Amino acid sequence: MKLWGGRFTKETDQLVHNFNASISFDQKFFKQDIDGSIAHVTMLNQQGILTQEEKERIIKGLIGIKEDIIEGKLIIDETHEDIHSFVEANLIERIGDAGKKLHTGRSRNDQVALDMKLYTREELQQMKELLIKLLSVLHISMKENLDTYMPGFTHLQKAQPITLAHHLGAYFEMFYRDYDRLSDIVKRMNYCPLGSGALAGTTYPLDRNATAALLGFSGPTLNSMDSVADRDYLIEFLNALSIIMMHLSRFSEEIIIWNSNEYQFIDLDDAYSTGSSIMPQKKNPDIAELVRGKTGRVYGSLVSLLTTMKGLPLAYNKDMQEDKELTFDAIDTVKGCLALFTGMLSTIKYNKPRLAASAKNGFTNATDAADYLVNHGVAFRDAHGIIGSLVLYCIEKNTALEALTLEEFKAVSPVFEADIYDAISLKTCVEKRNTIGAPGKSAMEEVISIHENLLANL
Ligand code: ARG
Repeated sequence: MKLWGGRFTKETDQLVHNFNASISFDQKFFKQDIDGSIAHVTMLNQQGILTQEEKERIIKGLIGIKEDIIEGKLIIDETHEDIHSFVEANLIERIGDAGKKLHTGRSRNDQVALDMKLYTREELQQMKELLIKLLSVLHISMKENLDTYMPGFTHLQKAQPITLAHHLGAYFEMFYRDYDRLSDIVKRMNYCPLGSGALAGTTYPLDRNATAALLGFSGPTLNSMDSVADRDYLIEFLNALSIIMMHLSRFSEEIIIWNSNEYQFIDLDDAYSTGSSIMPQKKNPDIAELVRGKTGRVYGSLVSLLTTMKGLPLAYNKDMQEDKELTFDAIDTVKGCLALFTGMLSTIKYNKPRLAASAKNGFTNATDAADYLVNHGVAFRDAHGIIGSLVLYCIEKNTALEALTLEEFKAVSPVFEADIYDAISLKTCVEKRNTIGAPGKSAMEEVISIHENLLANL
C-alpha cells in the first residue's frame, strides 16, 4: 500500500503512520491531484515516454476515479498515507500495470506543490467573486445614500459631517484593493512546479512548457529546488486573506456600535441577528461579532506558516505539509465570512433621521465656522481660537453654534454676518466639500461613476 516500502524491513509504527499521514486533509484536492496527473501523462506520451495506449488507459482510469469520488461511489480510504498514494493505488487496482507508470518522472514533492497551487488558484478565484458581490452591495447602498447625512468620527469622537455613501465608500476602496491584491498574487504564483522532481529535475526528456500550458500556467518555474520548497504564494495569499479579515473586522466593529441601543444608527435584519436565551428583548449582532472574532484565526494561519517556513533548509522538508490545514481553514473561514457579511450588509436598514440628527449635534460644524472667518480675512489660527471659545460658550449654555443669535456671534468677532447660518448648516458643511474623494454630492457622484467602470471590468 505504501509508495516507498521497498527499502524497509519493518512495518511503520501505527502512531508514526498516523502522525505522518496527510490524507485526512489533503483529500481536499483530489480533483487537482488527478488533473495534474492527466496533464503529466499527456506530456509523457507526447515525449514518447509512455505509449498512446498506456496514456489512454491511465487517463480513463483517472477520470473514472475522479467521477466515482464525486458521485460518492468511491470512498477515499484514509488508511493510505496521502491522496497521492490513494489515487495511484486505486489506479493500479483499476487498470493494472499501466497504472504503475503514472509516477514516471515525478516526485510527490513537485506533485504536492502543484496540487496546492491549483487548489489555491481556484479558491482565490472564488474569493474574488465573493469580493465582487460585496463591492456590488456597497455600490448600490452608496448610490442610495448620497444625501444621507451622518457624523464622521476621529478618535470615535464626532468630527465633521459626512454622508453614509462616503462612509461606505471608504470600505469600497478597501475591498477593491483586496480584490486587486488577489489578482496581483496570481501573477507571481502562476508558474508550474511540475517536472521539478524531488528537487533536481529529472533525467527524462519532460516538456515542462507543455504541462504548464495544459494546466493554465504562464510557464514552468525556473529552479527545481525553489519549485518544491516555495510556499511564498501561500504566505502572500494568507496575508491578503488577513487584510480582508482586518477590513471585515473593522466594518463589523462599526456595525456592532451602530446597532447598539446608544447609537441606533442601523437596524439589523432579523434573519441576520440572534437572540438571548434569558433576555427576551435582545437582538444581537452575532454575525458581525463572529466575523470580528474569526479574524484572529486567519492571522494565526499567516503567522503559523511564516514561522514554519523560517528555518527550513532547501529544498523540500516534511514541515511543509503543515501548510495545508491552516490554509484550508483560512480559506473556508474567509469565504464564509465574506458571504455572510455581504448578506448582512445588504439587509441592513439605516435609520436616516437618527443619522442626520447625530450629524448635527456635537459641534460637527465648528471647522466650517472657523473657515467662515478665514474666508472673511481672519488668520486660521485666530479663527480656530475664536470658534473654540464659542464652542465652550455653547457647552456652558447647553446650545449649538447654529442656535446662537447674531449678537452672540458678533460678541466674539465683528466679522460674523447673517450668512454665517447658511455657512454652518449641515447641508453646506457636506455639500461644500467637493474635491475628489470628499463627501460632497458631486464629488461622490464622480467617484461612483469611476466605481461603476471598475465593477464593469472585474
Ligand atoms: N503530504 C506531503 C506534503 O503535504 C506530500 C509530499 C511528501 N513528500 C515526501 N517526500 N514525503 O508535503
